[in-house]
Amino acid sequence: MYTSQVPLNTTEIIKKKRDKQTLTKEEIHYFVKGVTEESIQDCQIGAMLMAICLQEMTKEEAVNLTQEMKVSGVTLQWPKEWSRLVVDKHSTGGVGDKVSLVLAPALAACGCKVPMISGRGLGHTGGTLDKLESIPGFNIKKTPEEMKTIMSEVGCCIVGQTAELVPADKKLYAIRNVTSTVDSVPLIAASIISKKAVESLHCLILDVKHGEGALFKEIDRARKLAEYLVDVGNRLGIRTVAVLSKMDNPIGRCIGNSLEVIESIKCLKGNGPKDLEELVTYLGSHLLYLCGKAESSEVGEEAIKDVLKNGTALGKFQAMLVAQGVTTDLARALCQGKEILKRARKQEELKAEAEGIIQAIHSLPLAKVLQELGAGRNQPEEPINHSVGIELLKTVGDKINKGDSWIRVHLEDSSLSEAQKIRLQKSLVIGKMFKGVSLVTDIIEA
Ligand code: URA
Repeated sequence: MYTSQVPLNTTEIIKKKRDKQTLTKEEIHYFVKGVTEESIQDCQIGAMLMAICLQEMTKEEAVNLTQEMKVSGVTLQWPKEWSRLVVDKHSTGGVGDKVSLVLAPALAACGCKVPMISGRGLGHTGGTLDKLESIPGFNIKKTPEEMKTIMSEVGCCIVGQTAELVPADKKLYAIRNVTSTVDSVPLIAASIISKKAVESLHCLILDVKHGEGALFKEIDRARKLAEYLVDVGNRLGIRTVAVLSKMDNPIGRCIGNSLEVIESIKCLKGNGPKDLEELVTYLGSHLLYLCGKAESSEVGEEAIKDVLKNGTALGKFQAMLVAQGVTTDLARALCQGKEILKRARKQEELKAEAEGIIQAIHSLPLAKVLQELGAGRNQPEEPINHSVGIELLKTVGDKINKGDSWIRVHLEDSSLSEAQKIRLQKSLVIGKMFKGVSLVTDIIEA
């Protein structure tokens, strides 16, 4: 029997989950408190995570875990008059996914407040913070008070998680990473939603990817995660919707931190690649509708397209850079499209070996080669090279002739090995016909 009369004991709680029993709110509180206060051993945390991974959790347990993780640190507080305006977006991660860099300022330009807490890249997926840190001076460390000032003056900020924000997630995530317990739906939901809940959001949109470059390749698993996230988010009081989107080809034409910043600025000027603009517009329009800033998603779509065309989203991005430490001159020059960011020492191009129409460019081999070249990290906290990246000179749907250059790799010291060249060439799929398809496959609402 587990009642409040029985003294709680970590070993017994692990055993209960191991045996597929349901944990009470009190037991989950005890476990998360022990994680945060470091009174539970790492091996016990690992055992508990594995038990959750294998036996899963009821929705009630996952909601309780999320809530306890949320309150393991401080919660951000905003002025009352912002209560319906505070919104955010989260993506489960992809290749060339620079949507946040464009969407946060676009939403600010539409009158929303966006306190975006982002992460660094790990493995083959990039991280928003790494992209922004390719801009000299950009500071991802902001106190809650500083965030409030930037949100008040600019409307959006993009910052890193601090020791005070969801400390339980920091500890749990580090252990999940080394115990093969990352891909558990309740653990992912608790991790993502707890970090969004401390932002005291009114509305949240989630971009749950599926396909070869995504956390979950199969759409059914991605859908299950999306439904779970939407449910947990709403039960924590955040109006949450999720979009399922394909992550097979890279998003846009650039992969790699500084190259993605340059491409984001093009999008903020209304000249971005179609797929990137499609995602930004889709996610932004639904968020504007959800928070009541637009009377329909169609009206929201027009609003997002307008701020990308009329320069107000770019103005917000520039102001955010200055508010987060970039000098005024550098921010202006960068937004004017001047070549400010450090370039990698070498560029190598590869040529198409056949002619036709590009059917696909597999994102995973591209991302893995970039990781080997230093653009991504194998371990958390590892340093990376912000200038290493790939430009796609041709993209999906383009006609290509044999001998046309289709990819330019920016690299620092070494050259591409023969094996890397073969993997890159194999990622290009050329065929005869092409039928354009939308990136967004579904939207999941409460
Ligand atoms: N992103 C997170 O923040 N947490 C997870 O568990 C997975 C992706």
